Amino acid sequence: MELPFAESYRIKMVEPLRKSTREEREQWIKNARYNLFNLKSDQVFIDLLTDSGTGAMSDKQWSALMLGDESYAGARSYYNMKDAMRDILGFDYFLPAHQGRAAENVLYSTIVKEGDVLPGNSHFDTTKGHIEFRRALAPDCTIDEASDTQLELPFKGNMDPRKLDDVLKKYPKEKIPAVVLTVTNNTAGGQPVSMANIREVSALCKKYGVLLQIDSARFAENAYFIKTREAGYENKTIKEIVREMFSYADIMTMSAKKDAIVNMGGFVAFKSEELWRKCQMFCIMNEGYITYGGMSGRDMNALAQGLDEGTEFDYLETRIGQVAYLGKKLDEYSIPYQRPAGGHAIFVDATKVLPCVPKEEFIAQTLGVELYLEAGIRGVEIGAILADRDPVTRENRYPKLELLRLAIPRRTYTNNHIDVIAAALKNVYDRRESIKRGYVITCEFPIMRHFTVELEKA
Ligand code: F0G
Repeated sequence: MELPFAESYRIKMVEPLRKSTREEREQWIKNARYNLFNLKSDQVFIDLLTDSGTGAMSDKQWSALMLGDESYAGARSYYNMKDAMRDILGFDYFLPAHQGRAAENVLYSTIVKEGDVLPGNSHFDTTKGHIEFRRALAPDCTIDEASDTQLELPFKGNMDPRKLDDVLKKYPKEKIPAVVLTVTNNTAGGQPVSMANIREVSALCKKYGVLLQIDSARFAENAYFIKTREAGYENKTIKEIVREMFSYADIMTMSAKKDAIVNMGGFVAFKSEELWRKCQMFCIMNEGYITYGGMSGRDMNALAQGLDEGTEFDYLETRIGQVAYLGKKLDEYSIPYQRPAGGHAIFVDATKVLPCVPKEEFIAQTLGVELYLEAGIRGVEIGAILADRDPVTRENRYPKLELLRLAIPRRTYTNNHIDVIAAALKNVYDRRESIKRGYVITCEFPIMRHFTVELEKA
């Protein structure tokens, strides 16, 4: 008999979880103004709000913390991180930052000015926020197929080279500080980008003389998909694939809270010494001195160790296998989601699950609240609230997809938790005809409103 799949680690430390009643949850979510971000974590049973900074560190990472060097300048921990940058990622120059968006801030403060254009494949919301806040444009060049949730494609996160070419043709290169390739493509469902696509995008960047920035939050998960789905890579190690991916990039920005499996941290890395030097000023101004940039020595140590563990095949097989397991369960219950299952999350197709709720009443948000009420599970809306208003017309932007993202923290929950998530979704799906109304906004910020938005029942 073939042996069943099992995790590539065992558990050494546990954290209790509290269950609650439906009555309690009804009160709590009302007090939270129907915004799941406003809940206390103790009011949540299974927290799928994000996979960012919520993973479990290993014994080796915890021991690396103890060896942290907290010197202000030139700490050993900085050099540990530098070794990992060079050996695992192939970048000689980098600036630490306290998280991914801080790395973006350091980079974009240096290279982006009003009227610039940074095309990408579904820019992450902070990335888009940093670009649009500087009155620059972030045109989306993701392949059209990404918005058909039922289409099974191995690399549904790809950038469409024709769309990119159109943008690169339209503007002079002085107006294009970088092309932003996000791997995996979070917004499109944690979908990977193929090596062929990375190569093609890089060739276009070279042709037009613009820099390629890889937003690398989930680069290792992307490498796993290349190994398991792209011809010619099946016998390469994850680390070999990672090195090739980054060989095509000029810049990488990284939220280390994802694939470096730390609770806080990030960096921006450069091939060019000159650009690294230019960015130092904003690092010092906003983050800290260039050898710690917003991170403590112990955290840089844990990050360096995490980069090594996060690029090991056995770990990635367990991690992505768990997300796929949730996808399989949802298949059993015929619940539609962005297919195939992504690397870090399942993105439930809220429009198909709640067919009666009008889009003006925020379908994915409504599904998020229903799932919380059902079982204390917290996901996050990837829909019209996240999309913000159009910066020019101030009208609501209704994206093609209304998704509820269920992000799975790394090494944190067991497959029993996954079974609960699937069953809870099935219960909501079974009573979908009775859910007819959603929510309306009572209070919002002008940009990145989804974190703090306040809602009431429509
Ligand atoms: N880029 C991508 C692709 C991301 O997914 C994130 C964060 C960032 C950049 C910003 O990094 O949070 O460290 O400042 N994504 C989290 C999420 C918040 O839940 O998907 P950060």
